[in-house]
Amino acid sequence: MRAVVYGAGAMGSIITRLLVEKGVSVVGAVARSPGKVGRDLGEVAGLSFKLGVTVDDDPDAVMSRAAADIAVVAVSSYLRTMYDHLRTCLEHEANVVTIEEESFFPWATAPSLAKRLDLVAKRHGVTIMGSGAQDLYWMTLPSALMGAAHRVDSVHGRTTWNVDDYGPEVAQHVHAGSTLEQFEAHVAREGWPSFVVRNTVDALVADAGLTTAKMESSVAPVLAATDTPSRSLGRVITAGELLGVTDTATTDTLEGPSFTFEQTGCVYARGRSDLNEWVVRGEPAELRLRNDDVPTRLATCTQVVNRIPDVINAPPGFTTVADLPRLRYRHFPLDSYLVGA
Ligand SMILES: NC(=O)c1ccc[n+]([C@@H]2O[C@H](COP(=O)([O-])OP(=O)(O)OC[C@H]3O[C@@H](n4cnc5c(N)ncnc54)[C@H](OP(=O)(O)O)[C@@H]3O)[C@@H](O)[C@H]2O)c1
Repeated sequence: MRAVVYGAGAMGSIITRLLVEKGVSVVGAVARSPGKVGRDLGEVAGLSFKLGVTVDDDPDAVMSRAAADIAVVAVSSYLRTMYDHLRTCLEHEANVVTIEEESFFPWATAPSLAKRLDLVAKRHGVTIMGSGAQDLYWMTLPSALMGAAHRVDSVHGRTTWNVDDYGPEVAQHVHAGSTLEQFEAHVAREGWPSFVVRNTVDALVADAGLTTAKMESSVAPVLAATDTPSRSLGRVITAGELLGVTDTATTDTLEGPSFTFEQTGCVYARGRSDLNEWVVRGEPAELRLRNDDVPTRLATCTQVVNRIPDVINAPPGFTTVADLPRLRYRHFPLDSYLVGA
């Protein structure tokens, strides 16, 4: 199996190691900064050996040379930003798995871009899907929990993750280090996209075969109570500045059950760890699932890599987790899981 690591940042570096260890030939790598372009991917990804793959800032050239079976894309968020990157991969007949969050379930927030990518993928006989932390923790686990209910009145999810576990793209996205005035001015000027919480709720509603009647989303700043060092920003966030944000989406369905998902992405003070918690209310009165100390950073990358055989095996087009088999552990080299292998 031949793969391109498209985005050699914090996530792409971990993904590189996982791919190599699962028997995948990494045959191309994309980044943009002068500090990375021209260097060996093994070195950029912090491996102890070279891979013989030079990081390049020309995606078209990388994809042309690579003849890749799969592009693992970890660059930025939102389909409007990522459209050209994803299209380039598909046009070179590479399947795509991405941690771009909107791709997880894009049909309500970016339907026309998703439809266009669906058509490009079908034209080139390949498949695109979004995976990442969402796959198990925010979709498969709550869906399975709902499977133990006779009646669901409401589903409530709550998750937190540490901005410092990721690269500059993520810190920038949650406005870590901004002043409250800068953040409020930004939201007043440009609004705030409902982002990953909305896409997750959309996926859960679709998976349950329900229909959205009304959706509301909101964002709230998380402010530093004391001066807090940030690894990702490379500076101290002073008291009163933003550590990050809490995004919340609530959907009422035509059929009755309501879904709320609340996600806090912020720079952590020392001693805090990632949380994932889901509560389903109805009959039984309450079903609860709580994961403490979630290794979100690594588990984002492991899930993306474990999804690769599903993506390659799926029919061409834009597919989502709701259409695929459940996530599975891959003990053997990834190509041994391909249909016909
Ligand atoms: N779904 C999930 O569970 C999940 C989890 C974590 C992160 N994410 C998302 O994944 C993305 C990447 O996260 P990260 O922590 O790895 O960020 P990061 O460390 O900033 O990495 C981004 C990478 O993309 C490259 N890049 C950015 N713009 C580019 C462009 N125009 N052309 C070519 N390369 C470009 C960067 O190159 P340089 O390094 O050379 O600048 C870098 O290698 C973010 O959007 C984040 O929100 C999703």
